[in-house]
Amino acid sequence: MEFSAPSPDNAIDQLKIVGKPTTRIDGPLKTTGSAPYAYERHDVAADQAYGFIVGAAIAKGTIKAIDLREARAAAGVIGTVSTLDYSPLALGPMNTANLFGGAKVEHYHQAIAVVVAETFEQARAAAALVRVDYARSEGEYSLDRAAHTAVSVPPEEGERRAVGDFPSAFAQAAVTIDREYTTPGHSHAMMEPHATIAAWEKGRLTVWTSNQMIGWGKRDLCKAFGLKPNQVRIDSPYIGGGFGGKLFVRSDVMVAALAARVVGRPVKLALHRPLIINNTTHRAATRQRIRIGAERSGKIVAIAHDSISGNLPNGKPERSVQQTTLFYGSANVAVDLRMAQVDLPEANAMRAPGEAPGLMALEIAMDEMAEKLGLDPVVFRIMNDTQVDPTKPDRHFSERNFVECLRTGAERFGWSDRPAKPASRREGRWLIGMGMAGGFRNNQLQPSAARVRLRRDGKIIVETDMTDIGTGSYTIIAQTAAETMGVKLTDVVVVLGDSDFPVSAGSGGQFGAVNSTSGVYAACIKLQSLILERLGFDSADATFVNGKIQVGSRSVTLKEAVQSGELLAEDGIVYAKGYEERAQQSTFAGHFVEVAVDSFTGETHIRRMLAVCDAGRILNPITARSQVIGAMTMGAGAALMEELVVDTRFGFFVNHDLAGYEVPVHADIPHQEVIFLNKVDPWSTPMKAKGVGELGICGVAAAVANAVYNATGVRIRDYPITLDKYLANLPRPD
Ligand code: MOS
Repeated sequence: MEFSAPSPDNAIDQLKIVGKPTTRIDGPLKTTGSAPYAYERHDVAADQAYGFIVGAAIAKGTIKAIDLREARAAAGVIGTVSTLDYSPLALGPMNTANLFGGAKVEHYHQAIAVVVAETFEQARAAAALVRVDYARSEGEYSLDRAAHTAVSVPPEEGERRAVGDFPSAFAQAAVTIDREYTTPGHSHAMMEPHATIAAWEKGRLTVWTSNQMIGWGKRDLCKAFGLKPNQVRIDSPYIGGGFGGKLFVRSDVMVAALAARVVGRPVKLALHRPLIINNTTHRAATRQRIRIGAERSGKIVAIAHDSISGNLPNGKPERSVQQTTLFYGSANVAVDLRMAQVDLPEANAMRAPGEAPGLMALEIAMDEMAEKLGLDPVVFRIMNDTQVDPTKPDRHFSERNFVECLRTGAERFGWSDRPAKPASRREGRWLIGMGMAGGFRNNQLQPSAARVRLRRDGKIIVETDMTDIGTGSYTIIAQTAAETMGVKLTDVVVVLGDSDFPVSAGSGGQFGAVNSTSGVYAACIKLQSLILERLGFDSADATFVNGKIQVGSRSVTLKEAVQSGELLAEDGIVYAKGYEERAQQSTFAGHFVEVAVDSFTGETHIRRMLAVCDAGRILNPITARSQVIGAMTMGAGAALMEELVVDTRFGFFVNHDLAGYEVPVHADIPHQEVIFLNKVDPWSTPMKAKGVGELGICGVAAAVANAVYNATGVRIRDYPITLDKYLANLPRPD
């Protein structure tokens, strides 16, 4: 099904099942422990051996020798694999760091050897006996030191970096600010580690793993091992979180496959937490500068946003400036994205890559500018809303209700109670403050396919390689198929995550829900036409309701329609070339936060948070709400605690476990609420929905930062906002 114009009315608009609060159909499996994660798939291959990865103990240099003799002689050891026995495996197009092979070490904890044994404990013990002789070379591990060597990254196709004349508009503006902000590296910190069981059978590789993007993973495995598509299968039906850290197959997949080939048995292995942090990817740290110029009235006339991040050579920058050309109306905009070379582990996508760190800076700057103008920050943002892409003013937003997010949020949160003067409200020892910020994230269109079967028992089976990373994909896909085919939710069976199924959008970039359900809708429409064809019904008047096909006075049950044999349809959604260019599709949020800061100790407590989201039609208010609440929690972590601490002498992340890399828990945020505007967006897809899973984090950290400022009167521009940065400047307790 090609999508080339805003969607007319369709079966989804019935909203009998789609749009209804529906608990996750995989919930009972999760809560009873019967949805196995990758490492727990004991039944998929007999005789599984255990692998344990040895990570490089230097950040840069070469390996002169690896002595595996002692490890090989250890109890239970079946085999070993050394990086020196292989050339570097070919990399997929989205990755930077070598995953395995060769003598060169590019980053700390790069996988350099694997020990395979009968038990996990034996493999781990033997791995400690591997002796490695390194030639360590000098590396650059500090973004601050490397920043002056950063080079400008050229714009991507169609990307506009400037409009108007920023320098003169800024120079002439009545009110200006010019500020620098920093954000640290972040770890995805998903609960389920990267883990893989790999097995070879007659030259065909199967990996049972934990992966967000099955199609990409299959492509990358084919490339790494020189296999044809029919020689690789990836299966990843249940995933304990990803957040971008599992967008790509990583070293666990590569070395499990190599080790399984070496020992001639299925091999399973997992990355322990230090390897997740130093062996895989992370969100890059940034140094950002924002300049805003406005008229006295508050109308913005100039915005510039520059960002520097670091990565390995040939890596990609953190695109922190990408929202700034679209978010607020300004006739003069200039953004610059620079990248410095650092020899840390690979920087890559993490939940809302670009916008998440970009808005951490921009939305503090907006707060600072509002204060300088003497305007309420909600009013200031409303004044500067735009309904068109400021860099191409004839291009409108498909649906943009940012102002309504702000107004609704202000009213529901009780924003009028906010103390306008910082550090002016106390409750005993506590300094109380409120902050807000805007959220912005684009809605991306991606092709997505599915296969739908009407079985002889009347059940609808949906198969697609889409993944459910804890997001609710199973449920919204079942809702979509049930709505389109006119059956009950319980009459739909959804099977996901297998590369033998049609290729979906996958889980990434908050594009999973809207595109994968659109692909399922397309396949269901095709199945409808096959059913009608078999029945000899005129398709124009047919309706699918209550498990029946009705045409005029004739009515046949779905079960009756397939008595002569089941029917199978495969189709997907594809977007016409240039369609996405016709309107800017984005999602918006207003985030509101109240904090209490202990005036003696400086400890900050978040008291309550509210997000008001404008993300098209909400397919399932329960799963969408969970996405936003999880993202808000992640934003609170980014504001107050999360930071990958770099050892700038030896080049690794020091706090490489969940004791040192602190993330928020339930007790940290007693009240969180989410309001969806639920505005249908026919421009997006037949589902008229948009992404929401990444919108939820965008702007949150700045809302917390602005609340801390409102409480304390101390402005912190370096995340995370830990008490050591403001304790000495807190107003004295009464
Ligand atoms: Mo997302 S960072 O594309 O999983």
